[in-house]
Amino acid sequence: MIPVLIPSLPETDAIVPYLRRIDETRIYSNYGPLSREFTTRLCGFVSERAQGAPVAATITGNGTSAIELALRYRIAGRRGGLCLMPGYTFIATAHAAVNVGLEPFFADVDPETLSLTPAIAERALSLAEGEVAAVVVVSPYGAPIDIPAWEAFEAAHGIPVVFDAAAAALNLTRVGAQPVCVSLHATKALGIGEGGAILTTDVDLVAQTTAMTGFGFSASSRVSEVRGGNYRISEYAAAVGLAAFDSLEARIRQLREASGAYHENFERIGVRMQPGFAAEWLTMTVNALFEPAAAEAVTAAFDAAGIQWRRWYGTGCQAHPAFSTCRHDGLARTASVAAGAIGVPFFPAISREQINEVCVCVERALAAR
Ligand SMILES: Cc1ncc(COP(=O)(O)O)c(C=O)c1O
Repeated sequence: MIPVLIPSLPETDAIVPYLRRIDETRIYSNYGPLSREFTTRLCGFVSERAQGAPVAATITGNGTSAIELALRYRIAGRRGGLCLMPGYTFIATAHAAVNVGLEPFFADVDPETLSLTPAIAERALSLAEGEVAAVVVVSPYGAPIDIPAWEAFEAAHGIPVVFDAAAAALNLTRVGAQPVCVSLHATKALGIGEGGAILTTDVDLVAQTTAMTGFGFSASSRVSEVRGGNYRISEYAAAVGLAAFDSLEARIRQLREASGAYHENFERIGVRMQPGFAAEWLTMTVNALFEPAAAEAVTAAFDAAGIQWRRWYGTGCQAHPAFSTCRHDGLARTASVAAGAIGVPFFPAISREQINEVCVCVERALAAR
């Protein structure tokens, strides 16, 4: 059997030196030294790769709460209104909107990039009955987002934009004032177990959302200045994060190699992947993109061959009972996009032989149709 994903975080020996520092300081949480150092390393890593001013970060307990807090800041405490978002996303995006009092309005995605585009969003705005308080733009599986286009959208419509770039921590080539939310979950390319971050050049956004992560207290006071909760990470999570940074270059090389092998094989047999994948960006959730009927044939062949696969975003948010009453723009292309995007086995230690086995299985399944 070839598993679809084997999460891998730093091993115990790599974390121990950081755990010893916790033993020495006896600081276990509350923005301790490891958490501050992790924040600095994350900001340095992203700032080095992204155009624009230095990036600042608010670290959160997970990616979902990063989206919640970024939305909460950007809608400035108002309740009610719609949150426009793609229907084709992981369900966390919809939960985050509901948790700050917004009602999801699902929009279609572009079948080439699997993303919401400003043009699709503009059409959805004209169909949404009711005020759209915010737009959440999702980076599908970590693909880069056209941030300048969304800055122009926000300037034109006056609607705040938040990016759900959960899987894109390694791929941020531009970060502006609009908040970019990433997940540091164990299944992500940069994982710490559970964690998340809001990345932005807006220092007020970071100050306010950081306060929200700790009961609304600002740096040294115990006075609650803004409404929030407890969304912090512990020093133990930061220890894993620091160890993850220590081995990140080696991990990126592994991911690049395996991604390149998939890209090469699939290109040879004419199977589409997300634009720029492998050459320009990396992810842990690698998808092959088919027409729905071809996807059926391929997944049947995978099942027969003991190759695990997954539709990582399912068939779209509107298909979940918890969100089935949410309105949408008709989602004309979402069903076929969702049916055709098949997550293939991928993990840092996947071998060339395993990748070849997957690709040969796809080739045979397509040839047999
Ligand atoms: C698109 C998207 N948004 C949000 C999340 C939520 O992140 P977390 O699991 O860290 O809360 C995920 C997690 O996989 C995701 O894929």
